[in-house]
Amino acid sequence: MVHSALEWDDFQEIVHIIDDPRSGAKGVVVVHSTALGPAVGGCRLAPYSSDAALMRDAMRLAREMTYKNALAGLPFGGGKAVLLQPEAPFDRAALFRAVGESLELLEGRYIAVQEVGTDIADMQNIAKRTSYVAGLDRKARRAGGDPSPWTALGVFKAMELAHFHLHGRSLAGARVAVQGVGRVGQILCELLSVAGARLIVADTNHRRAQAIAERFRAQILSADAILSAEADILAPCAVGGVLNCNSIAAIRAPLICGAANSQLAHKEDGEELRARGIAYAPDYVVNAGGMINIAAEHRGASQQMVRRDIDAIAERVIMVFAESDRRSIATNRAADAMAREIIGKPSSWAA
Ligand code: NAI
Repeated sequence: MVHSALEWDDFQEIVHIIDDPRSGAKGVVVVHSTALGPAVGGCRLAPYSSDAALMRDAMRLAREMTYKNALAGLPFGGGKAVLLQPEAPFDRAALFRAVGESLELLEGRYIAVQEVGTDIADMQNIAKRTSYVAGLDRKARRAGGDPSPWTALGVFKAMELAHFHLHGRSLAGARVAVQGVGRVGQILCELLSVAGARLIVADTNHRRAQAIAERFRAQILSADAILSAEADILAPCAVGGVLNCNSIAAIRAPLICGAANSQLAHKEDGEELRARGIAYAPDYVVNAGGMINIAAEHRGASQQMVRRDIDAIAERVIMVFAESDRRSIATNRAADAMAREIIGKPSSWAA
C-alpha cells in the first residue's frame, strides 16, 4: 500500500492518494475544508480517462461538499473520495477493505458515504477497516441508511416551492422532465406522481426508463432529448456536466431543479442560464437531503427533525434566488457566496 498526503491553500486541503496494487484500489481523497467539522462526502467509483481528470473531479466535488454541508447548516466540512474503476474484473470486497485501511490513516478528517458507483455493501466493507464511514445499513447498528429517499424528498420539496415561487401554482398538472431514474430519480417520480405532475423520463438504462414509464404513465425521451423537453421543470438526476454551452441554448423548462451533482459543466454556465431567464436551483443546495439524514443519525435525531431540516432546503433555494436577484449574479454564484460567508471566507468577487 502506498500513501501520500499533501496539504495546501487557505482551506487546509488534503490530497490523500490511495494506491494499493494488490486489490486494485486506486484513487484520491480530497479534503477541501474541515473548518466546520470533519469532511463528509461521497466515495465514488467511476472510470476516468486520466489521473488529471480524476483529480479535477475530486477537487470540484470536494469543494461542493464543503458548500453543501455549510449551507445545509451541518457541522461538517467537505471532502470526496474518487476511486478509479478497475478495467479488469476485481474483488470488490477486497478493494473497499483496502480503501478502508487507507481512510483510517486520515484519522477522521474524512468520513466516507455511499455515492455514484458504490453501494451500502461497499461502505460496509470499508467499515471492516475503519470507523470513518457513515450511511451504513441500519441493521449493522451504525449511523446512516440509504440517503437516496431523503435526497429525493429534498429535491421534491425544493421543486414544489420553487415552482410555486415562479408561477404561484402547485405541481398538479406541471410537466416534469426527469433525466435519470435511478435511486433518487425513481423516488422523485413517485413523489411527483402523487403530487399530480405529468412525467417525462429518460435513462440510458432503457429497461429502467420503461419500468418507470409504465408505473407512472410517463413519456420516455432519449437521454439527450430530455434536456430540451417541453416541460415546466427539468430535473437532472443522472450525471454531472449536463448544463453546458451545447445544452443550455435548447433548454425550454423555466426551472431546473434536480439531484445530480455538478450539473453545470463550468461555473460560467450559471450566467448563461440567468441570461436566458431560466431559474437554476443550485444542485448542492437542492440535493442535501441525504447528508441531512446522515448528520441526524449521527446526532441521534428523530425522523421528524430530518423532515423539518429537509423542508428548510426549499426555503434556502428561495433565499438563493432572492440573493441572485439582489446582486444580479447567477444562482450558483449566489449559493457559493452564501456558503462561503458561513464558512467565514467571503469569496473575492462577493460585494
Ligand atoms: P443512480 O446511479 O442510482 O442513478 C442514476 C441513473 O441515471 C441510472 O439509472 C443510470 O442508468 C442513469 N444515467 C446515467 N447516465 C445517464 C444519462 N447520461 N442520461 C440519462 N440517464 C443516465 O444514482 P442516484 O443515487 O440516483 O444519484 C443520481 C444523481 O444524484 C447523481 O449525480 C448523484 O451524484 C446525485 N446525488 C445522489 C445522492 C443520493 O442520495 N443518492 C445524494 C446527492 C447527490
